[in-house]
Amino acid sequence: LKLGIMASGNGSNFEAVAEAIKNKELAAQIKVLIYNNSSAKAAVRAENWSVPSVFLDHRKYKNREEFDREIVQTLRQYDVEWVIMAGWMRLVTPILIDAFPDKIINIHPSLLPSFKGINAVEQALAAGVKIAGCTVHLVCLEMDSGAILMQAAVPVLPDDTSETLHARIQVEEHRILPQAIALAAQRQPQATVMY
Ligand code: GRF
Repeated sequence: LKLGIMASGNGSNFEAVAEAIKNKELAAQIKVLIYNNSSAKAAVRAENWSVPSVFLDHRKYKNREEFDREIVQTLRQYDVEWVIMAGWMRLVTPILIDAFPDKIINIHPSLLPSFKGINAVEQALAAGVKIAGCTVHLVCLEMDSGAILMQAAVPVLPDDTSETLHARIQVEEHRILPQAIALAAQRQPQATVMY
């Protein structure tokens, strides 16, 4: 599988995919990392893994469509088949969706369809749920709404802050994202795990 990873920040999920490939748990190559914030730690991680990275600054494009056109061109240039959004904080347009039909995957730190959008972990805490988690899903136009590939659950503990809960969720993200990529490629969606 030829992967293109898109990240806006830390990139721990990028790292998890790279590790899974190294450990032969996922038969894939990361062809390129696209990032949109110059300070994204994901770029440093890509360099450490000798993965090419491309900085595309959304602020320089006149609208989301123009930005997505550039993204598609970059993904094509690097011969990408599957697009993985790992902490990509931009809304997408049909330009990107239509270029990779059913081949764009996102990871979100909640048990969807609960708590879509930003601050999902804070939303879960505010709602007082006792079980939180993460979801890997196919990307469609509507934010955080495509077909669910995998989910994993974690407990919410009484003293949790958004940081401690997010850290617990991220352990599961790093575990299920590589698995979900493999499942998606085999066209076996609907596999759901809960721990
Ligand atoms: C993750 O929690 C992911 O679910 C969300 O953004 C965060 C990215 O984390 N979409 P990282 O940059 O991979 O560490």
